[in-house]
Amino acid sequence: MYEAAFRVLEVLETREGPVSGEVISNSLGISRSAVWKHIKELINMGYEITTSHKEGYRLNKSSNRLLPYEVHKKLRTSFMGKKMRYFESTTSTNWVGKQMTHEHDPEELHGLVIIAEQQTGGIGRLGRSWISPRGGIWATVVLKPKIPIERVFMITMAGAIAIARSLRKEYDLGALIKWPNDIYLGDSKVAGLLLELSAEADRVHYALLGIGVDVNVTHTDLSGVPSTVTSVSIEFGHDVDRPELLARILKEFESRYLLLEAGEYEAIVREWKSLSCTLEHRVRVNTLKNSFEGEAIDIDEYGALMIRKDNGKIERVIAGDCVQQ
Ligand code: BTN
Repeated sequence: MYEAAFRVLEVLETREGPVSGEVISNSLGISRSAVWKHIKELINMGYEITTSHKEGYRLNKSSNRLLPYEVHKKLRTSFMGKKMRYFESTTSTNWVGKQMTHEHDPEELHGLVIIAEQQTGGIGRLGRSWISPRGGIWATVVLKPKIPIERVFMITMAGAIAIARSLRKEYDLGALIKWPNDIYLGDSKVAGLLLELSAEADRVHYALLGIGVDVNVTHTDLSGVPSTVTSVSIEFGHDVDRPELLARILKEFESRYLLLEAGEYEAIVREWKSLSCTLEHRVRVNTLKNSFEGEAIDIDEYGALMIRKDNGKIERVIAGDCVQQ
Protein backbone atom coordinates (compact mmCIF):
# COMPACT_ATOMS: atom_id res chain seq x y z
CA MET A 1 0.00 0.00 0.00
CA TYR A 2 1.35 3.40 -0.99
CA GLU A 3 4.82 1.93 -1.51
CA ALA A 4 5.89 4.75 -3.83
CA ALA A 5 4.71 7.36 -1.29
CA PHE A 6 6.94 5.77 1.35
CA ARG A 7 9.91 5.89 -1.02
CA VAL A 8 9.31 9.65 -1.29
CA LEU A 9 9.13 9.77 2.50
CA GLU A 10 12.47 7.95 2.76
CA VAL A 11 14.07 10.63 0.61
CA LEU A 12 12.63 13.37 2.85
CA GLU A 13 13.81 11.52 5.95
CA THR A 14 17.36 10.92 4.78
CA ARG A 15 18.02 14.47 3.55
CA GLU A 16 18.19 17.21 6.12
CA GLY A 17 16.08 20.26 5.39
CA PRO A 18 13.86 20.83 2.37
CA VAL A 19 14.17 18.75 -0.80
CA SER A 20 13.11 20.03 -4.20
CA GLY A 21 10.56 18.14 -6.28
CA GLU A 22 13.22 17.82 -8.96
CA VAL A 23 15.70 16.08 -6.64
CA ILE A 24 13.00 13.62 -5.49
CA SER A 25 11.82 12.94 -9.02
CA ASN A 26 15.39 12.34 -10.24
CA SER A 27 16.38 10.11 -7.34
CA LEU A 28 13.27 7.91 -7.68
CA GLY A 29 12.90 8.07 -11.46
CA ILE A 30 9.31 9.37 -11.28
CA SER A 31 7.67 12.53 -12.64
CA ARG A 32 7.30 15.67 -10.55
CA SER A 33 3.51 15.39 -10.67
CA ALA A 34 3.87 11.84 -9.28
CA VAL A 35 6.01 13.28 -6.47
CA TRP A 36 3.27 15.79 -5.69
CA LYS A 37 0.64 13.04 -5.72
CA HIS A 38 2.67 10.99 -3.21
CA ILE A 39 3.28 14.05 -1.02
CA LYS A 40 -0.51 14.50 -0.82
CA GLU A 41 -0.91 10.81 0.08
CA LEU A 42 1.64 11.22 2.88
CA ILE A 43 -0.14 14.33 4.18
CA ASN A 44 -3.39 12.34 4.19
CA MET A 45 -1.64 9.67 6.25
CA GLY A 46 -0.83 12.27 8.90
CA TYR A 47 2.72 13.34 7.96
CA GLU A 48 3.28 17.06 8.34
CA ILE A 49 4.99 18.20 5.15
CA THR A 50 5.32 21.82 4.12
CA THR A 51 5.77 22.81 0.51
CA SER A 52 7.31 25.94 -0.89
CA HIS A 53 7.96 26.85 -4.51
CA LYS A 54 11.44 28.07 -3.67
CA GLU A 55 12.70 25.31 -1.39
CA GLY A 56 10.59 22.26 -2.11
CA TYR A 57 9.22 19.80 0.42
CA ARG A 58 10.11 19.61 4.09
CA LEU A 59 9.08 16.87 6.53
CA ASN A 60 8.23 18.62 9.79
CA LYS A 61 6.63 15.84 11.76
CA SER A 62 6.04 12.12 11.37
CA SER A 63 2.55 10.70 11.35
CA ASN A 64 1.25 9.58 14.71
CA ARG A 65 -0.66 6.71 13.12
CA LEU A 66 0.29 3.09 13.68
CA LEU A 67 1.51 2.70 10.09
CA PRO A 68 3.41 -0.47 9.14
CA TYR A 69 6.18 1.74 7.67
CA GLU A 70 6.76 3.26 11.13
CA VAL A 71 6.52 -0.09 12.97
CA HIS A 72 8.97 -1.72 10.54
CA LYS A 73 11.58 0.95 11.25
CA LYS A 74 11.73 -0.34 14.83
CA LEU A 75 10.86 -4.01 14.38
CA ARG A 76 13.62 -6.48 15.36
CA THR A 77 11.89 -9.84 14.80
CA SER A 78 12.80 -12.74 12.56
CA PHE A 79 9.28 -13.39 11.20
CA MET A 80 6.61 -11.87 13.45
CA GLY A 81 5.12 -8.79 11.81
CA LYS A 82 7.40 -8.89 8.76
CA LYS A 83 4.16 -8.73 6.80
CA MET A 84 1.46 -6.33 7.92
CA ARG A 85 -1.98 -5.22 6.78
CA TYR A 86 -3.16 -1.80 7.89
CA PHE A 87 -6.70 -0.47 8.14
CA GLU A 88 -7.71 3.07 8.95
CA SER A 89 -10.91 1.56 10.34
CA THR A 90 -12.36 -1.94 10.35
CA THR A 91 -14.90 -3.95 12.32
CA SER A 92 -12.38 -6.21 14.06
CA THR A 93 -8.84 -7.23 13.15
CA ASN A 94 -9.65 -10.79 14.28
CA TRP A 95 -12.54 -10.83 11.83
CA VAL A 96 -10.21 -9.59 9.04
CA GLY A 97 -7.78 -12.37 10.02
CA LYS A 98 -10.52 -14.97 9.67
CA GLN A 99 -11.50 -13.65 6.23
CA MET A 100 -7.89 -13.76 5.09
CA THR A 101 -7.52 -17.40 6.10
CA HIS A 102 -10.44 -18.19 3.76
CA GLU A 103 -8.54 -16.63 0.87
CA HIS A 104 -4.96 -17.72 1.63
CA ASP A 105 -3.15 -20.76 2.96
CA PRO A 106 -2.61 -20.08 6.73
CA GLU A 107 0.98 -21.28 6.29
CA GLU A 108 1.62 -18.24 4.05
CA LEU A 109 0.03 -15.94 6.60
CA HIS A 110 2.13 -17.19 9.53
CA GLY A 111 3.37 -14.13 11.45
CA LEU A 112 1.18 -11.64 9.56
CA VAL A 113 0.02 -8.76 11.75
CA ILE A 114 -3.25 -6.97 10.99
CA ILE A 115 -3.47 -3.47 12.45
CA ALA A 116 -6.42 -1.10 12.70
CA GLU A 117 -6.37 2.53 13.75
CA GLN A 118 -9.86 2.00 15.13
CA GLN A 119 -12.36 -0.88 15.28
CA THR A 120 -16.09 -0.44 14.94
CA GLY A 121 -16.97 -3.94 16.20
CA GLY A 122 -14.05 -4.95 18.43
CA ILE A 123 -14.55 -8.30 20.16
CA GLY A 124 -13.50 -9.10 23.72
CA ARG A 125 -13.41 -12.33 25.67
CA LEU A 126 -16.62 -14.17 26.53
CA GLY A 127 -18.46 -12.51 23.62
CA ARG A 128 -18.13 -9.01 25.05
CA SER A 129 -17.58 -5.98 22.89
CA TRP A 130 -14.21 -4.21 22.98
CA ILE A 131 -14.25 -0.43 22.64
CA SER A 132 -11.42 0.47 20.23
CA PRO A 133 -11.02 4.20 19.67
CA ARG A 134 -8.08 5.84 17.86
CA GLY A 135 -4.90 5.85 19.90
CA GLY A 136 -4.89 2.21 20.92
CA ILE A 137 -3.04 -0.80 19.57
CA TRP A 138 -5.64 -3.03 17.97
CA ALA A 139 -3.85 -5.84 16.22
CA THR A 140 -4.17 -9.52 15.32
CA VAL A 141 -1.30 -11.92 14.76
CA VAL A 142 -2.12 -14.76 12.35
CA LEU A 143 -0.29 -18.00 13.18
CA LYS A 144 -0.06 -21.50 11.83
CA PRO A 145 1.22 -22.95 15.11
CA LYS A 146 3.60 -25.86 15.21
CA ILE A 147 2.57 -26.55 18.78
CA PRO A 148 0.63 -29.60 20.04
CA ILE A 149 -3.08 -28.78 20.11
CA GLU A 150 -3.34 -29.18 23.91
CA ARG A 151 -0.68 -26.46 24.30
CA VAL A 152 -2.03 -23.94 21.81
CA PHE A 153 -3.86 -22.00 24.56
CA MET A 154 -0.39 -21.09 25.85
CA ILE A 155 -0.07 -18.65 22.94
CA THR A 156 -2.26 -16.32 25.01
CA MET A 157 0.07 -16.72 27.99
CA ALA A 158 3.02 -15.83 25.72
CA GLY A 159 1.10 -12.76 24.51
CA ALA A 160 0.28 -11.62 28.05
CA ILE A 161 3.93 -11.98 29.08
CA ALA A 162 4.97 -10.00 25.98
CA ILE A 163 2.67 -7.07 26.76
CA ALA A 164 3.55 -6.96 30.47
CA ARG A 165 7.30 -7.14 29.73
CA SER A 166 7.04 -4.44 27.04
CA LEU A 167 5.24 -2.00 29.35
CA ARG A 168 7.86 -2.67 32.00
CA LYS A 169 10.87 -2.29 29.70
CA GLU A 170 9.64 0.70 27.68
CA TYR A 171 7.99 2.78 30.42
CA ASP A 172 8.97 1.21 33.71
CA LEU A 173 5.29 0.60 34.46
CA GLY A 174 4.55 -2.21 36.95
CA ALA A 175 2.40 -4.24 34.57
CA LEU A 176 1.09 -7.56 35.89
CA ILE A 177 -1.09 -10.34 34.51
CA LYS A 178 -4.50 -11.04 36.00
CA TRP A 179 -5.86 -14.51 35.28
CA PRO A 180 -6.69 -15.53 32.67
CA ASN A 181 -4.69 -13.07 30.57
CA ASP A 182 -5.58 -9.46 31.30
CA ILE A 183 -2.80 -6.93 31.75
CA TYR A 184 -3.19 -4.63 34.72
CA LEU A 185 -1.51 -1.44 35.91
CA GLY A 186 -2.40 -1.21 39.59
CA ASP A 187 -6.13 -1.91 39.91
CA SER A 188 -6.95 -1.06 36.30
CA LYS A 189 -6.95 -3.09 33.12
CA VAL A 190 -4.78 -1.72 30.30
CA ALA A 191 -4.75 -4.60 27.80
CA GLY A 192 -6.46 -7.83 26.87
CA LEU A 193 -5.94 -10.75 24.53
CA LEU A 194 -8.32 -12.84 22.49
CA LEU A 195 -7.19 -16.15 21.00
CA GLU A 196 -9.40 -17.66 18.31
CA LEU A 197 -8.65 -21.05 16.82
CA SER A 198 -9.70 -23.10 13.87
CA ALA A 199 -8.93 -26.70 14.71
CA GLU A 200 -10.11 -30.26 14.24
CA ALA A 201 -9.29 -33.36 16.32
CA ASP A 202 -5.52 -33.07 16.63
CA ARG A 203 -4.80 -30.39 14.04
CA VAL A 204 -4.79 -26.59 14.33
CA HIS A 205 -5.54 -24.90 11.01
CA TYR A 206 -4.74 -21.44 12.30
CA ALA A 207 -4.71 -19.31 15.41
CA LEU A 208 -5.55 -15.61 15.66
CA LEU A 209 -4.13 -13.74 18.61
CA GLY A 210 -5.97 -10.46 19.06
CA ILE A 211 -4.02 -7.87 21.01
CA GLY A 212 -5.80 -4.86 22.47
CA VAL A 213 -3.80 -2.24 24.36
CA ASP A 214 -5.25 1.08 25.51
CA VAL A 215 -2.23 3.22 24.66
CA ASN A 216 -2.81 6.93 23.89
CA VAL A 217 -6.41 6.86 24.98
CA THR A 218 -8.09 9.27 27.39
CA HIS A 219 -10.84 8.70 29.97
CA THR A 220 -13.21 10.48 27.57
CA ASP A 221 -12.31 8.06 24.75
CA LEU A 222 -13.08 5.26 27.18
CA SER A 223 -16.43 6.58 28.40
CA GLY A 224 -18.91 3.74 28.57
CA VAL A 225 -16.13 1.36 29.56
CA PRO A 226 -15.89 0.29 33.24
CA SER A 227 -13.92 2.77 35.38
CA THR A 228 -11.43 0.02 36.15
CA VAL A 229 -9.91 0.52 32.69
CA THR A 230 -6.87 2.70 32.14
CA SER A 231 -4.37 3.48 29.38
CA VAL A 232 -0.60 3.73 29.03
CA SER A 233 -0.77 7.51 28.51
CA ILE A 234 -2.96 8.01 31.59
CA GLU A 235 -0.52 6.02 33.75
CA PHE A 236 2.67 7.30 32.10
CA GLY A 237 1.60 10.95 32.05
CA HIS A 238 1.84 11.59 28.31
CA ASP A 239 1.38 9.98 24.91
CA VAL A 240 3.89 7.31 23.90
CA ASP A 241 5.29 6.09 20.57
CA ARG A 242 2.82 3.41 19.46
CA PRO A 243 4.93 1.98 16.60
CA GLU A 244 7.79 1.49 19.06
CA LEU A 245 5.51 -0.21 21.59
CA LEU A 246 4.00 -2.54 18.99
CA ALA A 247 7.48 -3.41 17.65
CA ARG A 248 8.57 -4.24 21.21
CA ILE A 249 5.46 -6.37 21.91
CA LEU A 250 6.03 -8.35 18.70
CA LYS A 251 9.68 -8.92 19.58
CA GLU A 252 8.82 -10.11 23.12
CA PHE A 253 5.99 -12.23 21.77
CA GLU A 254 8.12 -13.85 19.08
CA SER A 255 10.74 -15.01 21.59
CA ARG A 256 8.06 -16.58 23.88
CA TYR A 257 6.27 -18.12 20.89
CA LEU A 258 9.51 -19.74 19.74
CA LEU A 259 9.92 -21.21 23.25
CA LEU A 260 6.51 -22.83 22.82
CA GLU A 261 7.50 -24.25 19.44
CA ALA A 262 10.63 -25.63 21.11
CA GLY A 263 8.49 -27.36 23.75
CA GLU A 264 9.76 -25.13 26.60
CA TYR A 265 6.34 -24.92 28.25
CA GLU A 266 7.67 -24.80 31.78
CA ALA A 267 9.65 -21.60 31.01
CA ILE A 268 6.43 -19.88 29.89
CA VAL A 269 4.46 -21.04 32.95
CA ARG A 270 7.31 -19.88 35.22
CA GLU A 271 7.51 -16.43 33.65
CA TRP A 272 3.72 -16.08 33.64
CA LYS A 273 3.60 -16.91 37.36
CA SER A 274 6.37 -14.40 38.11
CA LEU A 275 4.21 -11.67 36.52
CA SER A 276 0.90 -12.75 38.03
CA CYS A 277 -1.11 -10.49 40.35
CA THR A 278 -3.71 -13.21 40.90
CA LEU A 279 -1.72 -15.95 42.59
CA GLU A 280 -1.61 -15.88 46.39
CA HIS A 281 -4.59 -13.52 46.46
CA ARG A 282 -8.15 -13.94 47.58
CA VAL A 283 -10.40 -13.82 44.53
CA ARG A 284 -14.00 -14.20 43.47
CA VAL A 285 -14.26 -16.40 40.41
CA ASN A 286 -17.17 -16.08 38.00
CA THR A 287 -17.63 -18.93 35.56
CA LEU A 288 -20.53 -19.56 33.19
CA LYS A 289 -21.91 -22.04 35.75
CA ASN A 290 -21.27 -20.46 39.14
CA SER A 291 -19.42 -17.94 41.30
CA PHE A 292 -17.35 -18.54 44.42
CA GLU A 293 -14.51 -17.17 46.52
CA GLY A 294 -11.22 -18.57 47.68
CA GLU A 295 -7.47 -18.21 47.47
CA ALA A 296 -5.80 -18.44 44.07
CA ILE A 297 -2.99 -20.87 44.83
CA ASP A 298 -1.60 -21.87 41.44
CA ILE A 299 -2.16 -22.36 37.73
CA ASP A 300 -1.71 -25.85 36.38
CA GLU A 301 0.09 -26.93 33.24
CA TYR A 302 -3.04 -26.18 31.20
CA GLY A 303 -3.37 -22.59 32.45
CA ALA A 304 -6.34 -23.51 34.68
CA LEU A 305 -6.60 -21.54 37.93
CA MET A 306 -6.51 -23.56 41.16
CA ILE A 307 -8.61 -22.07 43.95
CA ARG A 308 -8.59 -23.19 47.58
CA LYS A 309 -12.12 -22.57 48.82
CA ASP A 310 -12.83 -21.70 52.47
CA ASN A 311 -13.86 -25.31 53.14
CA GLY A 312 -10.38 -26.41 52.01
CA LYS A 313 -11.62 -27.92 48.75
CA ILE A 314 -9.54 -27.19 45.66
CA GLU A 315 -11.47 -26.06 42.55
CA ARG A 316 -9.95 -26.03 39.10
CA VAL A 317 -11.24 -23.24 36.82
CA ILE A 318 -10.59 -23.46 33.09
CA ALA A 319 -12.54 -20.43 31.86
CA GLY A 320 -14.08 -17.41 33.51
CA ASP A 321 -13.21 -14.14 35.17
CA CYS A 322 -11.78 -13.38 38.53
CA VAL A 323 -12.09 -10.35 40.77
CA GLN A 324 -9.48 -9.64 43.38
CA GLN A 325 -11.03 -9.32 46.87
C1 BTN B 1 -10.45 -9.08 26.40
O1 BTN B 1 -11.68 -9.19 26.52
O2 BTN B 1 -9.75 -8.76 27.36
C2 BTN B 1 -9.78 -9.33 25.06
C3 BTN B 1 -9.74 -8.10 24.22
C4 BTN B 1 -9.07 -8.31 22.87
C5 BTN B 1 -9.20 -7.08 21.98
C6 BTN B 1 -8.42 -7.21 20.71
S1 BTN B 1 -8.26 -5.66 19.85
C7 BTN B 1 -7.60 -6.49 18.46
C8 BTN B 1 -8.40 -7.75 18.29
N1 BTN B 1 -9.60 -7.49 17.52
C9 BTN B 1 -10.69 -7.64 18.24
O3 BTN B 1 -11.84 -7.45 17.82
N2 BTN B 1 -10.38 -8.04 19.48
C10 BTN B 1 -8.97 -8.16 19.67
